[in-house]
Amino acid sequence: MNTLCLPATEENIRLGGRLLSEGQLVGFPTETVYGLGANALDEAAVRSIFAAKGRPQDNPLIVHVAGKEDAFPLCHVTPLAEKLMDAFWPGPLTLVMPKKDVIPHATCAGLDSVGVRCPDHPVALALIRAAKVPVAAPSANTSGKPSPTRAKHVFEDMQGKIPLILDGGDCMVGVESTVLSVTGDIPVILRPGKVTQQDIAAVAGDCKVADSVMRPLQENEAAPSPGMKHRHYAPEGKMTIVQGADEEKVVSLLKAMYDENENACILCRKSLTAHFEGRRVFSIGDTPEDTAKILFAALRDMDEMKVSRILCQGWDTGGVGLAVMNRMARAAAFDIIEA
Ligand code: TXA
Ligand code: MG
Repeated sequence: MNTLCLPATEENIRLGGRLLSEGQLVGFPTETVYGLGANALDEAAVRSIFAAKGRPQDNPLIVHVAGKEDAFPLCHVTPLAEKLMDAFWPGPLTLVMPKKDVIPHATCAGLDSVGVRCPDHPVALALIRAAKVPVAAPSANTSGKPSPTRAKHVFEDMQGKIPLILDGGDCMVGVESTVLSVTGDIPVILRPGKVTQQDIAAVAGDCKVADSVMRPLQENEAAPSPGMKHRHYAPEGKMTIVQGADEEKVVSLLKAMYDENENACILCRKSLTAHFEGRRVFSIGDTPEDTAKILFAALRDMDEMKVSRILCQGWDTGGVGLAVMNRMARAAAFDIIEA
C-alpha cells in the first residue's frame, strides 16, 4: 500500500474522513501524540489497527469524539463523569466508563468499559466530524516504540500499512492523555498525563493514582490499564535515569557513567548541559512540561543516532512530572539511580 503523508488542509481532512467511514486507517495529530484512527463501531476496521501496530489483542483502544454529546450513545455517563467532561474537554483526559452495546468487543478488548476522549486539536476534531463516526485511535507507533509526536514518526512506523497520514505539525503536549477510571466512587488515574491528580481532585473532590503507575508489574499481576503491562516506549539503547535534587552529584554520576561507555548520550536539563562539554549531550528543557513535549522524539533520535547507552536526568513526580517519569521509567525498564 502507498502511504500518503499530506498537510492537514480542509480537503485532505475530508479525504481522511471518507477513508475512515470506508473502514480504512488514518494517522492524525492530536494535542498529545499522533493517533492511528479507525471507525470505532466497525469491528473489521478496528482489527486492522491491531494488525498495523502489532498490538497485543488484550489492550483496549481509546474512542475519540468531537464533543460531549457524542459520548452519551457510547457509554453510561455518570454526573461525575459529565462534570469532568465539562471541566477538561476538549483536552488530554480519557474517561473510562461502562460501555454500551454499540461498541464492538474488539475496540475495548473484551472489557465491559470503554475509554472515551475529546481531543483538543482542530485537525482531530475536524477529522472526527468529517468521518461522522466515533474514531478509535491508539498512538500511531509500532507497538513497543515511543509514541509519535511528529508526522514523520508515524510515517517511519506505518509506511506501507495505511493509506493516509495527516500532517498537523508537532504535538503540543507530547505524552499521551491521562486515563481516568470513573467506574467507581472515587476517580482513579490508570495512566498519568498532562491533566494531573490535583487538577482532577479540584473538580471531583478526590482522585487516586493506581499504584502500578510508578512500579513495574509483577509477573501474572493484572494491569488496571492493560497497556501498562506491555513493554513500552523503549529505545534500542540501554537507558538509565539519574534522579536527585543535588545537581553536583547528578552531574558527576552522569559524567562517570558516560565515560565508562563507548557510545553514550546524556539527556539533561538545559541548565546543566554546559557541564558536559566535549561529551554528547541533549537538553530536555527546564520544566517537566518541556520534557513531556520532546521526550519521545528524543528517544527516537537516540535510535537514529544508534546510541547504545542513554543517560537521562529524571524529574520528581509532582504535577506533570508523574506523567514524564511514568514514561521515562518504562523506557529505562525501571533502571533508576538516586544521586
Ligand atoms: O493521548 C492519547 O490518549 C493518545 C491519542 C492518540 O489520543 N492515544 C493513546 O492510545 O495513547 P493508546 O492506545 O496508545 O493508549 C491507551 C491506553 C492503554 O494503556 C489502554 O490500556 C488504556 O488506555 N485503556 C483504554 N481503554 C481502557 C479501558 N476500558 N480500561 C482501562 N484502560 C483502558
Ligand atoms: Mg500507545
